[in-house]
Amino acid sequence: MPQLHVNVDHIATIRQARMTTEPDPVYAALVAEQAGSTGITIHLREDRRHIQDRDLVLLMQMAQTKVNLEMAATKEMQEIALANKPDIVTLVPENRAEVTTEGGLDVVGNLGRIKEITTALKAAGIRVSLFIDPVKEQIAASKEVGADDIELHTGEYANAEHGKVEAELSRLIDGANWAHEAGLNVNAGHGLTYFNIAPIVALPHLKELNIGHSIISRSVLVGITQAVREMIALIEKHTPA
Ligand code: PXP
Repeated sequence: MPQLHVNVDHIATIRQARMTTEPDPVYAALVAEQAGSTGITIHLREDRRHIQDRDLVLLMQMAQTKVNLEMAATKEMQEIALANKPDIVTLVPENRAEVTTEGGLDVVGNLGRIKEITTALKAAGIRVSLFIDPVKEQIAASKEVGADDIELHTGEYANAEHGKVEAELSRLIDGANWAHEAGLNVNAGHGLTYFNIAPIVALPHLKELNIGHSIISRSVLVGITQAVREMIALIEKHTPA
């Protein structure tokens, strides 16, 4: 069964709305772990709009599972990752004007920089995952730069209009197969909800799912424990035998 990593960025979004101390994303992460999440994901953005540096430092001290740090492939972020040593770094594209991460990372177009940062992170014992679209050239480039994993961007699938969902799903299936053939671990995330998760759970070779907005939104109504447990139950239910 694929593992669930809960992204707690939007607990921090609520905190930053008032620039105060509550709710605390680290506290939320610990509750998510108690509910069965096998990893915690945070995105430390260059503009620090939600997660703050202190959240990463505290999470590294407190988390009992795995910490997956999503970050841009910049020198500043490289230094922060090397100083904090999360279990996994997921490199993502970042654009200050975007509401959330929009497209996948262009590994083909930034081969040198991504190889440099991947090499440095791996030398420090950090697993490196690249958040990419299900495109053969990007998968081959991910292998070339030395990544351990790819995270397939499921945003296009999640946003697909009725009638186009199957085509997006088949792109993801192809991407998962190509990545596995290349020797890369396969993860997926972005835009996944309680309503669209079922076919994604059945993607071939899937190891980890990173899910944030939908779980945090539901937790506002039912609590983090129940929201996480419900998502894990769906993953379990839809994992092929
Ligand atoms: N994976 C990556 C690489 C992301 O950037 C994000 C958003 O921070 C997610 C997964 C989670 O997306 P969502 O909040 O839509 O579940």
